[in-house]
Amino acid sequence: MAKESKRKVITAALPYANGSLHLGHMLEYVQADIFARFLRLSGDDVVFVCADDAHGAPIEIAASKEGVKPEELIERYRLEHVADFNDFLMSFDVYHTTHSSENRAYSDLFFKTLKKKGFIYQRMIEQTYCEVEKRFLPDRFVKGTCPKCKAEEQYGDNCEKCNSVYKPIDLVEPKCVVCGASPVRKSSVHYFFKLSSFSQKLKEWVTNHENIQPEIKNFVLNWINSGLEDWDITRDGPYFGFKIPGELNKYYYVWLDAPIGYIAATEKYAKEKLKKTAEELWKSPDTDVIHIIGKDIIYFHLLFWPAMLMGVGYSLPSAYVVHGHLTVNNEKMSKSRGNFFTAREYLDKFDPELLRFYYASNLSRTSSDINLDFQDFQNKINSELVSNISNFIYRTLNFINNNFDSKLGKMPAEDRLLAGTIQSKFDSVLKSYRECNYREAVKAILEISSLGNKYLQDREPWKLVKVNKNKCREILTLSANIAKNLAILLYPILPVFSVKIQKQLGLNRIALSDLNFGLTETKINMGRIIFTPIEETPKIGSELFPANLKVASVESVEDHPNADKLYVLKVNIGDETRTLVAGLKGMYSREQLLKRNIVVVTNLKPAKLRGVESQGMLLAAEKDGKIEILSAPKSVPGDSVFAEGLTPSEDEITFEQFQALGLSVEAKRVFYGDRILKTDKEEVVAVIEDGAKVR
Ligand code: MSP
Ligand code: ZN
Repeated sequence: MAKESKRKVITAALPYANGSLHLGHMLEYVQADIFARFLRLSGDDVVFVCADDAHGAPIEIAASKEGVKPEELIERYRLEHVADFNDFLMSFDVYHTTHSSENRAYSDLFFKTLKKKGFIYQRMIEQTYCEVEKRFLPDRFVKGTCPKCKAEEQYGDNCEKCNSVYKPIDLVEPKCVVCGASPVRKSSVHYFFKLSSFSQKLKEWVTNHENIQPEIKNFVLNWINSGLEDWDITRDGPYFGFKIPGELNKYYYVWLDAPIGYIAATEKYAKEKLKKTAEELWKSPDTDVIHIIGKDIIYFHLLFWPAMLMGVGYSLPSAYVVHGHLTVNNEKMSKSRGNFFTAREYLDKFDPELLRFYYASNLSRTSSDINLDFQDFQNKINSELVSNISNFIYRTLNFINNNFDSKLGKMPAEDRLLAGTIQSKFDSVLKSYRECNYREAVKAILEISSLGNKYLQDREPWKLVKVNKNKCREILTLSANIAKNLAILLYPILPVFSVKIQKQLGLNRIALSDLNFGLTETKINMGRIIFTPIEETPKIGSELFPANLKVASVESVEDHPNADKLYVLKVNIGDETRTLVAGLKGMYSREQLLKRNIVVVTNLKPAKLRGVESQGMLLAAEKDGKIEILSAPKSVPGDSVFAEGLTPSEDEITFEQFQALGLSVEAKRVFYGDRILKTDKEEVVAVIEDGAKVR
């Protein structure tokens, strides 16, 4: 390790202080924590920093909705995050907040330095302004069509489909997220960072960088090649953030001070623990800064941030580890699907180390998405962690406790080969960890454990103990050494388990230098079972909602060729068009239906109605002969319509099964039992008297 003795500042992205941590977040923090723990185990000087990202319009708006001060809101979430992180065994050296004096000082320093050097200038711009809410609509408060790829329903700052970054005003057909109104344009003077002037330097830096994943490089180089625009770093009040010095109602944009938050968090640690400033660390050639981030924030971390660092004269990040998104049961997590889990909901049911193990088994150094499948989770934990690893260790220690009065003997000379085979796998485990390829590290660890199991199986110590106790003790001594090595190798992933095993072996604070077969002629403590199998497949979501409902927009209305009362509609349900036959003639004109957002049952068994196949059913409510179709005006085609907390079923249902749901109307809302049907944007509307039945 001698040469590699640079100090490592490891960062994980700073979670926003206006929401709970969920299992998607935890993927990143587990990835980062394993790395930090591995480097510490290797003897590196590590500063693992993180903080809450406490600024921005969403936080200001959330606080004002709740009627509390933003400071109160962010402090509440900070405490919640800290508790979640502790329980997930995060080993941050410092956990700070971007709303801190350190961060204000460094943000002002960056701003002033960049301005003095001519990298920041002022320009009058037009912005989206909502006249209902009386505020400029930043980023996440305006939605519309992406100007680059034309994906609908994208926020004002960047597109989730093509990942490009733009201004709210660039959106096609923008809408205010708070009230739905179409915003107007209004002017204001803003500060801009000259990102464009860094194009060439950034291009060289990215191209020659040795520690950026190739697919991420491509992404970034494409952006550079298609032309970088200068970056608006100002937001007008009302806003929660740091006021720009000398300005009355202008603030730094949250993404200016958020990455500076990494430095500010380092400052808090360095001042207290090293009696140094963060500036000394971040400028030093003896420090490696390693950023661990999700692929949704590449633009900020690989363009804006390095350009700012270049402009101010700090060293540039040495490595990036970019991970993909977490899906749960192969779908994006969402409350409507019932596959959304907060960190706390998980912790209420399971041991944090089980998820750390599962994530590690799936994480490699690529940015492909990672799927959490609960059946797979159960299988993996039971067969790999419990049976293969944990039971092997327990069996070994328990046997030694019971048969040899807990005392180890010599190593069995004739089994040196096995020890050698195992020893030769250590390097590949360590190399895989170093490359953040945990999946391979886990594979090699499991191979070692399997060898241990096979060894006991072959040697049958339960028989041997009766005929040759000494030899038997040697065999168990080798097994105990395998257990010790497993405990060391698993430490980054399973720190609590590792320490428990070390204690059971009568050891403490073991390091990589203890990876050997030198544990002999010594007394161990009592072996105890640590992990037990998960008995039942963890349930995701709760109950099923038998109908799969979606918002659809009516694209065409034709008369049915063979029936007087029926229309044949073509409707768009997001990614497909369907034909529906509906008995609405005489009640709704063509014009009343065209372009309207309706609600459709998409998993209904198709039926031929007078010779035309209907691929679903449009929902309408009926009372005393009056009919009103359900609508969802603020949603977009394809949006799921759900009863909160229930998972929409994918299985086909019959008309009778649908009717049995008994959906009915109360106060112009549609109820399933006491749950209101809604999309993620609004409650579904039915303008009809109470008690109307939906059919
Ligand atoms: N506040 C910014 C980061 C500022 S860093 C200077 C932010 N916060 S976040 O809370 O939205 O996300 C924090 C991290 O969690 C990001 O790296 C993000 O990619 C990651 N994840 C959030 N949801 C995720 C999944 N569903 N799956 C995997 N990672 C996800 O972005
Ligand atoms: Zn508005």
